Amino acid sequence: MQNTAVLGIDIGGSGIKGAPVDLIAGDFAADRLRIPTPQPSTPQAVADVVARIVDHFADLIGDSPVGITIPAVVTHGVVRLAANIDPSWVGTQAADLFAQRLGRPVVLVNDADAAGVAEAKFGVAKGNDGIVLLTTLGTGIGSALIHHGVLVPNTELGHLEIDGYDAEKRAAASIRTAENLSYAEYVPRLQRYYEVVEKLFWPDLFVVGGGVSKDADKFLPYLKLQTPIVPAALRNRAGIIGAAWLAANPS
Ligand code: BGC
Repeated sequence: MQNTAVLGIDIGGSGIKGAPVDLIAGDFAADRLRIPTPQPSTPQAVADVVARIVDHFADLIGDSPVGITIPAVVTHGVVRLAANIDPSWVGTQAADLFAQRLGRPVVLVNDADAAGVAEAKFGVAKGNDGIVLLTTLGTGIGSALIHHGVLVPNTELGHLEIDGYDAEKRAAASIRTAENLSYAEYVPRLQRYYEVVEKLFWPDLFVVGGGVSKDADKFLPYLKLQTPIVPAALRNRAGIIGAAWLAANPS
């Protein structure tokens, strides 16, 4: 029997989630498994959890490669900057660490980049031949720049300095919660953020992901931008689906 499911795993601050992905349908081939992120979330402790998830789905994924997301810059398998994860990741050749632990090829990718790829291949940006900029509003702000369906990785636009602030410290969804802001109070921060990004990148489409995108009708219609801005279609499945796609289509 031909095996089309490729495992995607999304490493987050509170949970590590994995599911086999049917890359023809662009959706999960089985229910996802979520295991709480170990604390401290060191590379070894996280690799143990990742191995448990791979074992859980072993029957469905054959000997296929695994795609893994991490909320950090990744260049050539090395984690380079870790704003919201354990600092011990920085400088770790994490792709090799996972590959050795799992005994299979691994593609390691920034979380927002994986979500952007998923939206471009299967979601709301499918078929867009221009410049798509996906931002995720969560603990931090992640970004994925896609041109003609091709990812330009590690854009890190959550760390633009705007009005003297690291942008994600003003406009991430976690800040809205921490400062107890209503959506009416949050909108001006998003307006400022997106208008700066728009002037720098002139995208054809903004896609907004992250948990807050389920409330998109409470803030997106109030943003005044020249660029269309739409919620992500794949919601919290995007990271896993994008990671699996990248594992099956390594650059
Ligand atoms: C990190 C990015 C990540 C984003 C969303 C930022 O703080 O620097 O790498 O994509 O948070 O998790």
